Amino acid sequence: MTDELILTRPDDWHLHVREGALLRCVVPDTARQFARAIIMPNLKPPVATVERALSYRDEILQAVPEGMHFTPLMTLYLTEQTTPEEIKKAAECEHVYAVKLYPAGATTNAASGVRNIKEVYPVIEAMEKYDLPLLMHGEVVDTEIDVFDREAVFIERHLEPLVQHFPGLRMVMEHITTQTAVEFVRSAPDTLAATITAHHLLLNRNAMFEGGIRPHHYCLPLIKRETHRQALVAAATSGHPKFFLGTDSAPHPKGAKEAECGCAGIYTAKDAMAFYAEVFDAAGCLDRLEGFASFYGADFYGLPRNTDTIRLIRESVSVPETIDFGGEIGVPLRAGGEVHWKVA
Ligand code: DOR
Ligand code: ZN
Repeated sequence: MTDELILTRPDDWHLHVREGALLRCVVPDTARQFARAIIMPNLKPPVATVERALSYRDEILQAVPEGMHFTPLMTLYLTEQTTPEEIKKAAECEHVYAVKLYPAGATTNAASGVRNIKEVYPVIEAMEKYDLPLLMHGEVVDTEIDVFDREAVFIERHLEPLVQHFPGLRMVMEHITTQTAVEFVRSAPDTLAATITAHHLLLNRNAMFEGGIRPHHYCLPLIKRETHRQALVAAATSGHPKFFLGTDSAPHPKGAKEAECGCAGIYTAKDAMAFYAEVFDAAGCLDRLEGFASFYGADFYGLPRNTDTIRLIRESVSVPETIDFGGEIGVPLRAGGEVHWKVA
């Protein structure tokens, strides 16, 4: 049994850190494990310009504890007002790495997203021209579509046409949740990759209803049935370079989740590498964790792989019931339970 893992320092290719006191609380959790993270732009108002992305970057850097090295990789929020000129500016900015597409209303702070994707094709064309990757929240929002089918319908209605129409555009389907997505990404050209969260690898949809409604397991896209979870584990542990780590860790105060209309998001940043190690261990594939966590994302983004390492040791550690979210209460994934790997 492997009791110690030394890995090239990993990166998180999909992360929410919010702003202010909450940001200052969560950034250190990520910086302890990861060298870099793709920072989601769904603030209120959204990070829609290069100028705003740079000031947001400064705020994140100020929250990195002394002695730690952490590089936030900034993204722009694609709105119906985004111009090809702003895309050019973003591509020329050394700190902006991608543009995020939220279908309007799809998730937390997605109200400024795109209602009709075809309308923003000229902007996406500029992304293809300047080689700036498009990251997608891959769900349709139409109320007549069953919430568990929104990802599959997005693939059919929007992703297939995007792949066809923009053969030179690098795209990431973020936080995939279904076998359908795994198969689509696998069979698509190399320009399309996907991130996979720890929570979608660990949980199936029963976790949302275990003895009652479990708001801390509510995220978007929703966690799906067990066969889909297994397909995600198979993809993540396959060693296929199109699948890489993106936690989608999303901090929300306890009260905002335990509410009449609770918000979507699961906080996994604190124990992210322990969670992924648990999944790869259970699949008998610990030897493939480094590719998934530390290599394939960097390769896809055309960035150098990290050169330093982290050490994970097999050791059970209690997860607190609650953590500080900048003066508010946070409930991390597995609150009150244990993780079985420790970052030394
Ligand atoms: O569960 C989620 N939370 N999914 C998302 O797409 C957004 C995220 C958030 O921003 O809280
Ligand atoms: Zn997200």
